[in-house]
Amino acid sequence: MSQILIPPLPSPSSSSSPTLYSKLKIRQPSSVRPVRSQPMLHSGSNSSPVYNPRWSLRGMNALVTGGTRGIGHAIVEELVGLGARVHTCCRNGSELDGCLREWDSLGFGVTGSVCDVSVRAQRDELMGTVSSVFDGKLNILINNVGTNIRKPVVDFTAEEFSTLMATNFESVFHISQLAYQLLKASGVGSVVFMSSVSGFVSLKSMSVQSATKGAINQLTKNLACEWAKDNIRSNAVAPWYIRTSMVEQVLSNKEYLEEVYSRTPLRRLGDPKEVSSLVAFLCLPASSYITGQIICVDGGMSVNGFYPRHD
Ligand SMILES: NC(=O)c1ccc[n+]([C@@H]2O[C@H](COP(=O)([O-])OP(=O)(O)OC[C@H]3O[C@@H](n4cnc5c(N)ncnc54)[C@H](OP(=O)(O)O)[C@@H]3O)[C@@H](O)[C@H]2O)c1
Repeated sequence: MSQILIPPLPSPSSSSSPTLYSKLKIRQPSSVRPVRSQPMLHSGSNSSPVYNPRWSLRGMNALVTGGTRGIGHAIVEELVGLGARVHTCCRNGSELDGCLREWDSLGFGVTGSVCDVSVRAQRDELMGTVSSVFDGKLNILINNVGTNIRKPVVDFTAEEFSTLMATNFESVFHISQLAYQLLKASGVGSVVFMSSVSGFVSLKSMSVQSATKGAINQLTKNLACEWAKDNIRSNAVAPWYIRTSMVEQVLSNKEYLEEVYSRTPLRRLGDPKEVSSLVAFLCLPASSYITGQIICVDGGMSVNGFYPRHD
């Protein structure tokens, strides 16, 4: 019978020593304290809480790319809340420091690196740091970073095309490659890719971004099969409009926003926390038989064929 492997609680290791942090130039909070919240169940007869490992990430290590804003920020907090130790990265050092200070004040054990994931050498450096921070073991990789350039196909310059490809697809492919040995070494690994409904359906002026998300969807399925032997699962999450800085500008157009609402059965935008909850579920032991799936978080948008509003 197969076993669900729950890594042991991390012991205070050398990786959290100030000397090592400064040697590696890792951004860290002033003190990395244990997280507060842990998932509990209430036993039937008396109401004393019982720890349930199926719904906990306690003892697990996670890398979340792009964790300082939007969906990535919500994912960092969701994973930490379930007991994981998280490392994140972004390009803006002062924004990263601000987030780390805030998480520290909440008692969250989060570390971070400044890294532009579209640059190969910086990805190498990031994964070297992650390996040092987590002693060569990684349970969770969240490939969250992605960007967009909205233009008709014929207007794309070669440079814009390369930027989108490097940021959205080449980066997640390479980071996954670099993470493989760490995921394998942990004994139980989970990769979650941030896709989009644009990977399934055609959206105006988004052909190149859509192609990168379509590629992510296929990579999700291939890795699920290729890495299953190593107990590494691979899934993707595909959001429709979620209220973040990335889409602020396009949604500031009232008419466009109305079109978005009318196309969305739930008649509203999503919140980053409505994506992070699914990402966290896909990392939990409770989802241990789910792999190779791409799940939409879209208020019903992707299943909305023709449904006139008569209500
Ligand atoms: N929001 C939506 O409606 C929506 C819908 C479908 C899919 N998605 C997908 O969800 C993911 C997150 O989107 P979001 O809306 O949360 O974005 P966001 O609000 O713009 O946040 C992006 C985060 O990633 C970091 N980042 C961006 N480029 C980076 C790079 N080259 N290297 C390292 N870090 C980088 C940003 O920090 P820095 O700027 O400091 O680097 C920030 O922390 C993306 O893959 C996106 O395609 C979003």
